[in-house]
Parts: sequence; structure tokens; C-alpha cells
Amino acid sequence: MKIISVLFLLATAVATCHGQDSVENGLEYQILPLRLKSGSGGQHIQGITCSSWRLAVETHNIINWKTVPQECEGYIGNYILGDQYRGDSKAVNREAYFYVRDLNLTKDGKNIWVFDIDETSLSNLPYYAENGFGSTPYNDTAFNEWVNLGMAPVLPETKKLYKKLLSFGIKIVFLTGRPESQRAITTKNLNDAGYYQWEKLILKDKEQYKGKTAVTYKSTERKKLEQQGYRIIGNIGDQWSDILGYSTGDRTFKLPDPLYYIA
Ligand SMILES: *[C@@H]1O[C@H](CO)[C@@H](O)[C@H](O)[C@H]1NC(C)=O
Ligand SMILES: *[C@@H]1O[C@H](CO)[C@@H](O)[C@H](O)[C@H]1NC(C)=O
Ligand SMILES: [Mg+2]
Repeated sequence: MKIISVLFLLATAVATCHGQDSVENGLEYQILPLRLKSGSGGQHIQGITCSSWRLAVETHNIINWKTVPQECEGYIGNYILGDQYRGDSKAVNREAYFYVRDLNLTKDGKNIWVFDIDETSLSNLPYYAENGFGSTPYNDTAFNEWVNLGMAPVLPETKKLYKKLLSFGIKIVFLTGRPESQRAITTKNLNDAGYYQWEKLILKDKEQYKGKTAVTYKSTERKKLEQQGYRIIGNIGDQWSDILGYSTGDRTFKLPDPLYYIA
């Protein structure tokens, strides 16, 4: 095991040092498969590596992208199925916990925390693993068939935060882009995943928000909550559209998601 790690390191180092030379002397062909499997490297795409692409996506510098670059399917697959994704999720949820732990909250039952559902509370990884890890165009029919199975597994790090918040007396509001027609299956899926308790489960009224962005939809619904007297202590989601706009909450937390982009 140790020897293999050293080989990976050497291969990466050689690739980094020699750059273009490696293509000429044939090293490129030996190194790239190794780097892909290592899960830490990335192939070159339009002058940037897949790891740079992912960072730019997470920091919202690359926006409105349609699919994961074809060349990065393997890299994203390794990332999302591996320890790094779980570790990144943990870092976010842990920070949210530290934040809320140190608050001096008014105990009037009006404190809420907004949770997104897909890739925040539940994971659609089984679907994406079968569909090129976001590298193929979004197929609405196929994705909804998956959602309607109600089999999306829990994201354990988020559930941990959910439980802590409940123990602090903070109420949970799920706010999702899933349509009203998926209320029953979403409720069942949340329950099966261990989310038993919430103040509200807000799904999208497709007529009301026809042609509107997710930022508009989610902002409008959060504002309604504030108008009902709730205080949004925190807000967590995997998309920037979960946390941009208005009535975003006292603090927002962005979970990793290099699989798709929702404006
Ligand atoms: C917490 O808030 C209450 C009510 O606003 C206040 O009386 C108390 O001093 C605060 N405690 C701390 C440690 O800030
Ligand atoms: C989308 O998914 C459906 C259901 O699985 C399938 O029948 C259809 O061919 C897919 N469309 C495309 C463009 O791949
Ligand atoms: Mg989401």
C-alpha cells in the first residue's frame, strides 16, 4: 500500500515537473491513468485541471454551467464517492454547529433553520453514479423516476446538524425545489432517512413560480417565513441559489456539489 502511494506521488511529481516534455517522451500515457485513479489529480481541460474547475464551481466563479466537463467525469466520480466529499460536508456542518452552539437564542419557538433537500439532506448519488456524475445532460424524466422511488440515502453529516439543532430547540424548515406533486414521496424518503420532525416542508408550486429562478422562489418563501414571525438563524444548501437573494438568514452554509448547477 505504501509503495503504491509513493508511486502515485512520484508520478504526479514527474508530471508536474516536466509538463509538456512528458508528452514527447511518452510519460503522459503512463501518468494520466494513475493520476485519475489516485482521485487527487485531474486531466487538463481548456487550460485548467479538474480540481481547479471544482474549486471555481464551489466558489461560484464558474456559474450557469450545464454539465460536468466530459474529461472530469472520472475525477468528480472519485471525489464524490470518496472520503473528500464526506470530509468537506463535515467541515461545513461542523462549522454550522459551532456557530449555533455559541448563540444566545430567545426561547420563544420562533427560531428556524432552513434546510435544502437534494444534495443537502438527502443524496441522489445512486442516480448520478449511473448517469455520468453530471457529465451527461440533465434528463428530467429519468431524474424524477429516481426521486419517485423515494430511495435517496441520507447525508449523515447534515443529519447530525439537524439533530443538534432540534436539541437546541430550533425548528426545521425544509425548502426544496421539488414540486408539490412529490410531497408524499419526499415525506416518506425524509422519514426513512431519519428526519422525523419539522415545522414546515415547503415544496415548489410550479404554476406560481413558472419561469422564475430558484433564487426568486427560495427568497420569496423565506421572506414569507419572516413575515410569519420566524427568525431564520441559519440556512444550508448545496446550491448558491439556496443561499443568495434576500431573507437568506443570519448565516448561510454552502455544502459541496460539483454535480449540477441550479440558477
Ligand atoms: C442571553 O440573553 C438573555 C435575554 O436576552 C440575557 O438576559 C442574558 O444576559 C444573555 N446571556 C448571555 C450569556 O449573553
Ligand atoms: C431520459 O430518460 C428517459 C427515462 O429513463 C428515457 O426514456 C429517455 O430516452 C431519456 N432521454 C434522453 C434524451 O436520454
Ligand atoms: Mg439541493
